[in-house]
Amino acid sequence: MLRVGLIGTGNIATMHLRAYLAFPERCKIVAVVDKFTENAHAKKAEYQLEEAEVYDSHQALCERGDIDLVSICTPPFTHADIAVDCMRAGMNVILEKPMASSLEECDRILAVQQETGRTLSPVAQNRFRTPVMNLKKLLEQDLIGRIHHVQVDSLWWRGLCYYDLWWRGTWQQEGGGCTLNHAVHHIDLLNWMMGLPREVTSVIANLAHDNAEVEDLSVSILRYDHAVGQVTGSVVHHGEAQQIVFQAEKARVSYPFDVYASISRENGFPTRDVETENKIRSAFQALPPLLHEGHTAQIENVLYAIEHGRAPLVTPREGRDTIELITAIYKSGSTGLPVSLPIGPDDPWYTVQGILAGATRFHEKKTSVTRLGDGNITV
Ligand SMILES: NC(=O)c1ccc[n+]([C@@H]2O[C@H](COP(=O)([O-])OP(=O)(O)OC[C@H]3O[C@@H](n4cnc5c(N)ncnc54)[C@H](O)[C@@H]3O)[C@@H](O)[C@H]2O)c1
Repeated sequence: MLRVGLIGTGNIATMHLRAYLAFPERCKIVAVVDKFTENAHAKKAEYQLEEAEVYDSHQALCERGDIDLVSICTPPFTHADIAVDCMRAGMNVILEKPMASSLEECDRILAVQQETGRTLSPVAQNRFRTPVMNLKKLLEQDLIGRIHHVQVDSLWWRGLCYYDLWWRGTWQQEGGGCTLNHAVHHIDLLNWMMGLPREVTSVIANLAHDNAEVEDLSVSILRYDHAVGQVTGSVVHHGEAQQIVFQAEKARVSYPFDVYASISRENGFPTRDVETENKIRSAFQALPPLLHEGHTAQIENVLYAIEHGRAPLVTPREGRDTIELITAIYKSGSTGLPVSLPIGPDDPWYTVQGILAGATRFHEKKTSVTRLGDGNITV
């Protein structure tokens, strides 16, 4: 039975709580931590966590010495220090997205993870959706041939007051805008399926949130060795239509799932290749559904990893890759120049200080509230 602590008891903590409670024979929540302890007491009461002690800091939790696993659900700028302290205190970690606010912070987390041998998994719960997982498996079957182009639309919509929450809307605390905090999900999926690109050219803008320093739209072109990609991250898109579309030699496949295949007529114009489409569709439909989805599935994956001494599906190295691509987007979007990867420790954009010095500040954040609405969010 793994003993679990929860650090940060706001919106997303609810997903973690429900996930742990889905496996009562494998784990038990014994601690809830929030710097505003009333938040922690409220979650404890709502979910009837009789055995959970309330703490006002992760340092107090670290002193306990009997916690096996923590979920870190605090704002981005706190992630690195809390993750490092918890691993040093002997805990395994599930770390909410984004893994951290800079590559330097990610590397600090990776170094302590390797030194302590603890399990750390950055949250990327959207890998654990049946059509996403099975698209990844389909790509591995190599039915579509070499990928030429990938289009990622990470399109969300958020109202103005979204950025009034105290830690949102600043480079210092949120660490970035829609690219770091929303498109992070699709960028994880993109890297998982394609690997990192070698060059990035981006435009970042803030078009509809004049209460935030950070971007509410980014449009990026990615250059791979044999492919080109485009990524749009946004919180100004009504309807939040999202997709990842791969155009390959033999067919187009996408999430949400669709397939279309063309072959050439004698004159070079296309005709539909129904046979190839049927082959790809059948392969996709033959793949099994996941037993659990989203946060529940990722948390189950981490429980399994700890119980069996295995690596989790989402590794800290992959969390770092996501931050590397996002850092490149911010650097290119702020300097107006293409950026080559990797971004090394000698690059000013490697550190939070470098990002704060170089990133475009669109607007001043003037309003700051400690709580927004009823806590109901979509993920
Ligand atoms: N995976 C997803 O889909 C998803 C969705 C929403 C948010 N998130 C991420 O989860 C994290 C939290 O977001 P949220 O929307 O739940 O925010 P929130 O503001 O609702 O909750 C954060 C909680 O952490 C507490 N806190 C802040 N600093 C702390 C500290 N140093 N020690 C202890 N407690 C502290 C706050 O008091 C608050 O209760 C962010 O990193 C965010 O990007 C992930």
